[in-house]
Amino acid sequence: MSKVTVVGAGNVGATVANVLAHKDIVREVVLLDIKGDLARGKSLDTWQQAPIDHFSTRLTGTDDYKDSANSDIVVITAGIPRKPGMSRDDLISTNAKIVTSVTKSIMEHSDNPIIILVSNPLDVMTYAAHKASGLSKERVFGMAGILDTARYRAFLATALDVSPKDIQAVLMGGHGDTMVPLPRYTTVAGIPVTELIAEDALTAIVERTKKGGGELVKLMGTSAWYAPGAAAAQMVASIVRDENRIFPCCSLLTGQYGLNDIFLGVPVKLGKAGIVQTLELKLNKDEQALLHTSASHVREVIGTFEGMSIA
Ligand code: LAC
Repeated sequence: MSKVTVVGAGNVGATVANVLAHKDIVREVVLLDIKGDLARGKSLDTWQQAPIDHFSTRLTGTDDYKDSANSDIVVITAGIPRKPGMSRDDLISTNAKIVTSVTKSIMEHSDNPIIILVSNPLDVMTYAAHKASGLSKERVFGMAGILDTARYRAFLATALDVSPKDIQAVLMGGHGDTMVPLPRYTTVAGIPVTELIAEDALTAIVERTKKGGGELVKLMGTSAWYAPGAAAAQMVASIVRDENRIFPCCSLLTGQYGLNDIFLGVPVKLGKAGIVQTLELKLNKDEQALLHTSASHVREVIGTFEGMSIA
């Protein structure tokens, strides 16, 4: 029965809409972009896939926020992506204004949506959307951890020559080079990964994961979209189906891990009401220190955002 609005019809937004349609779990997906014809074109293209791939989800494209009315879930991908040489934080001056105004426009037409942020710098954009929306912390969170963990799992699958399906992992912290992959919480078909791979190879994979987004920006001249889009769609699915799946998501911490008033990636349960539970792992000293370093970095960027005084 659900209605999902995806804001931003660029590569990531269009992929979210496309993957979501293929899952065939929501009644309607609205793709909204200031470039209305781009949104109309990409949603029409996906709708024309429906007879081939057999899904019923209706897709429409628009540049009018009225068409987002009564959305159950809104995925915000609006903003500019990175170019080679840029960090995610370099996007803040442009994207903070966009995300704030998008959130306000959404809230004019939907009373109590769940909002999933995808725009970068992710942790700070989630903070900005939470502030602009006035929604509870359970209803505003960001997609980054599933993507970063997927990169880590994919690299491990290649190194071990196993199916990525069998690799389970969790990764925490900000969506930047200080993110914290957690080898101690990584298993391959239930086997601790440390039993299967040499320490230096694992360390190399952890380091590659941290710069995984940048690797793609270098290759393509812009940031990635297939895995980011699929990751956001997976979050939507867990909510719509009320699955209570556990994913690392960027969410507001209120004392967990010794951190307060900051949006950061931690494992949460996602169900119909949004974040149903925040899981607190028993991190060791080193892991906790890495998480706090990542948090300090995100706090700095939140400071930059607050300094911009966007009303
Ligand atoms: C990435 C961008 C989407 O990590 O942040 O690819």
